Amino acid sequence: MTGEVRVTARARIVGWMLLLVGLALAGSVTVTWSVLSARLNDRVDNELTHEANKLRSYMGNGVDPATGRRATDLTELLERYLVHNLPDGYETFFSVVDGRTVNRSAQDPLARLDLDRAFVARAARAKEPTYGWAESSAGDVRYAVLPVRMDGDPRQAALVVVEFRDALREEVNETTRVLGFTAFGALAVAGVVGWLIAGRVLAPIRLVRQTAEQIGESDLTRRLLVRGNDDVAALASTFNRMLDRLESAFAAQRRFLDDAGHELRTPITVIRGHLELMGDDPDEREETRTLLMEELDRMNRMVNDLIMLAKADRPDFLDLGEIDLADLTVDVVAKSRGLGDRRWRVGAVAEVRVLGDAQRLTQALMQLASNAVRHTGDGDTIEVGSAVRDGSVLLWVRDTGPGVAAEDRERIFERFVRAGSGPRPAEGAGLGLTIVASIAKAHGGTAFVQSPLEGGAQFVLDIPLRPVVDAGATTVVLPAPEVMR
Ligand SMILES: Nc1ncnc2c1ncn2[C@@H]1O[C@H](COP(=O)(O)OP(=O)(O)OP(=O)(O)O)[C@@H](O)[C@H]1O
Ligand SMILES: [Mg+2]
Repeated sequence: MTGEVRVTARARIVGWMLLLVGLALAGSVTVTWSVLSARLNDRVDNELTHEANKLRSYMGNGVDPATGRRATDLTELLERYLVHNLPDGYETFFSVVDGRTVNRSAQDPLARLDLDRAFVARAARAKEPTYGWAESSAGDVRYAVLPVRMDGDPRQAALVVVEFRDALREEVNETTRVLGFTAFGALAVAGVVGWLIAGRVLAPIRLVRQTAEQIGESDLTRRLLVRGNDDVAALASTFNRMLDRLESAFAAQRRFLDDAGHELRTPITVIRGHLELMGDDPDEREETRTLLMEELDRMNRMVNDLIMLAKADRPDFLDLGEIDLADLTVDVVAKSRGLGDRRWRVGAVAEVRVLGDAQRLTQALMQLASNAVRHTGDGDTIEVGSAVRDGSVLLWVRDTGPGVAAEDRERIFERFVRAGSGPRPAEGAGLGLTIVASIAKAHGGTAFVQSPLEGGAQFVLDIPLRPVVDAGATTVVLPAPEVMR
């Protein structure tokens, strides 16, 4: 992960958050505005109805609450009504008698409709309570003309109630604006806080990146500090475990190279020494030549073994196929006869077919057989056998030689280790058993040596191979999972 990618990740997280929250806020502000606007007209109509009811109840008794006197004519009645009923900030009331404005409520209205001749004339014509819309200098207004009659006064009179709807709407707009500003102010604060939090959350990932950058092939010892038990801590642990594996893989590779270099130096020194000391005597030259050829052969074998061991960890090391274990066991004995004059025997044979690499398994058993030959004499018995036990396939080579000392049983499987107890210890490179062990490991199993009661050594490959099951015409292959690696 590069620096730019990290910044982009942070910006992307915060950007998406802001976009989503911003859309949600914009939506809720718009909805609020439309709901308030829709309620506005209802509110205005309610006000007009309310005023009409008030006037009706006032007309009902016609008594002035202040003086307790009845009005004598329409002008006085409406004047008193206007004195006692005060409009709020978005209303105005006035009385029209015989086509002219007579009184107006005391508060200054937002627009003087009482001075609008056309409007007053229209109001004067109303015989019944009339509701309508009109234009004014303060925008659209909703009005009601409420005609008033009185016994003994034949004049035409009406109370006009005006609601400044557009002015009220401006109030709604103002409320919405304040709401919008507050919401988007909060959004900006959330953006800043989100940016800081995203930075904190991504900081451990940055640490992982920086550590990864600092780790070179030469120094795999660095590890990340694991704090807490969240996802980032899990990432750091996984990363550390990967480094553990890499470190041990590199260390193994280095040991392999060290060992190989060290072991190859011996035959080179031997060859060089012989060549330097070689005289002119033809017999001696012939003898040296034979010796050098043998040494070169040994080197060649060692290099081939090393190449094979280097390949053993690769996934394509095995070429899996169906193997008939009984055939394999018998074949190994047949091939081994050429290795030496011994009493070769086929021990138990497992009559099963399994999934594995027949060539590699044969190679492992041949290594064991050649060891057995090297550690036995003429007339000794060498047995090769196979069996299925506890879901495992066992393949073994057993001899009647000197056996392996208890303290050597594990270390002889290591590279270049020769126990030295055999009759001709210098001959081998000490790679044979390592190859056997790596073939067993590649099949998901192990190799070990045990000492039978009757003496000698028994080298065993224990491989968790499951039998291949024949189901009618089709063959169902059930390999152990490890084998598939
Ligand atoms: N059948 C055996 N009986 C007793 N000791 C054995 C037997 N097989 C192996 N060993 C001991 O284990 C050691 C390691 O064996 P390994 O096959 O790895 O090496 P090697 O046979 O010496 O050399 P290479 O196989 O590379 O030619 C041998 O040196 C020997 O001491
Ligand atoms: Mg060997």
